[in-house]
Amino acid sequence: MDLTKYETEMLEGKHGNAVKKSMSILVALGEIYGAKKLIDVTSVQVAGVSYDNLGDAGLDFLAELAKDGKVKVLTTLNPAGMDLENYKNLGISEDFAVKQKLVIEAFAKMGILTTCTCTPYLIGNNPHYGQHIAWSESSAVAYANSVIGAMTNREGGPSALASALTGKTPEYGMHLEANRNAQIKVKVEAEIKGTYLFGALGKVIGEKVKSKPTYITGIKEATVEELKSFSASIATYGGAAIFHMEEITPNKTPVPSEEITVTQEEIDKAVESMDMDSEVDFISVGCPHASINEIAKLAELLKGKKVTKEFWITTARPTLKIAQANGYAKIITDAGAKFAADTCCVVAPIKGRFKCLATDSAKGCYYAYSKNQSKIKIMPIEKLVEEAIKDVKK
Ligand code: F3S
Repeated sequence: MDLTKYETEMLEGKHGNAVKKSMSILVALGEIYGAKKLIDVTSVQVAGVSYDNLGDAGLDFLAELAKDGKVKVLTTLNPAGMDLENYKNLGISEDFAVKQKLVIEAFAKMGILTTCTCTPYLIGNNPHYGQHIAWSESSAVAYANSVIGAMTNREGGPSALASALTGKTPEYGMHLEANRNAQIKVKVEAEIKGTYLFGALGKVIGEKVKSKPTYITGIKEATVEELKSFSASIATYGGAAIFHMEEITPNKTPVPSEEITVTQEEIDKAVESMDMDSEVDFISVGCPHASINEIAKLAELLKGKKVTKEFWITTARPTLKIAQANGYAKIITDAGAKFAADTCCVVAPIKGRFKCLATDSAKGCYYAYSKNQSKIKIMPIEKLVEEAIKDVKK
């Protein structure tokens, strides 16, 4: 790979150990994927924040980098293993909290904004069309490439951090226009409305086409929330880093000749597969992290009601602050639901605590079942609230 004089100096350690280590990660990655050079990035989002996933080895790696590492570009974090302020109310142990706080401190020392969210684009880490960035979270990567038109590979935690500390990434994959073109056309012949059905559609398409970039037709309109749900789902079930939705997403692509169809029956079956026979004891909204619009809707639905089950709304802390300022948070917590800011039901250490999760997220269903071994039920937000306020079976 061709390196500039400055990049060579970084690799040789003339700009500190953290930069040296970061450059060696990026150069190794570039060589594996055949990149010709490094390019500048304008934004980074780092995953691998939960102590549940990092363990002590991960914490040591971060502490080492934090000795002399400082970020070069705007960088935020993926969800942590707990709400950094309200973890006791959510049943997180003090031992876990101590370790999680050390992880956050190491990131903060490097100059990273310790806003922990998988929807950085909703809270100010929001690149524009055509900008090169280095994001890790798969749902955010699919959203950034597809809905915003920024350019990012799906980075691992260490490579994203290396980009943050150097401002660079190897030029391969989604950073090259030719790799972003659709390879297969998907004609949707089904009524898709609401976050849970966009999630089901992502599951069906992801399972059919795997990681191939798609050109999707038949969707008349889609909200930001529906697109974030779809991005999470198509990336989870298939691994795609980009999709094109006719007249909705901004990227230009030749329309592929190979075409497949998604039918109403397939969508219904996908929903059925995420509707297991079990008594719901945990409800969650906010995978990917809830927007202020979703929180406003929940406040409207929960006003004057009382929930009878554990109900978490996972969101970014800045979004929670807006909800608090506007009175939505009070309505929701008065109803007995809880905010879990900075974290989510997949990265929090809650395995074994609940038997059946009800959610509007197909990605949430995938991980609740596979990682936390919980039964799952997918449904629209309105139905989740009905489920939450229903009397517990005697
Ligand atoms: Fe975000 Fe956690 Fe879902 S990181 S996309 S809320 S699994």
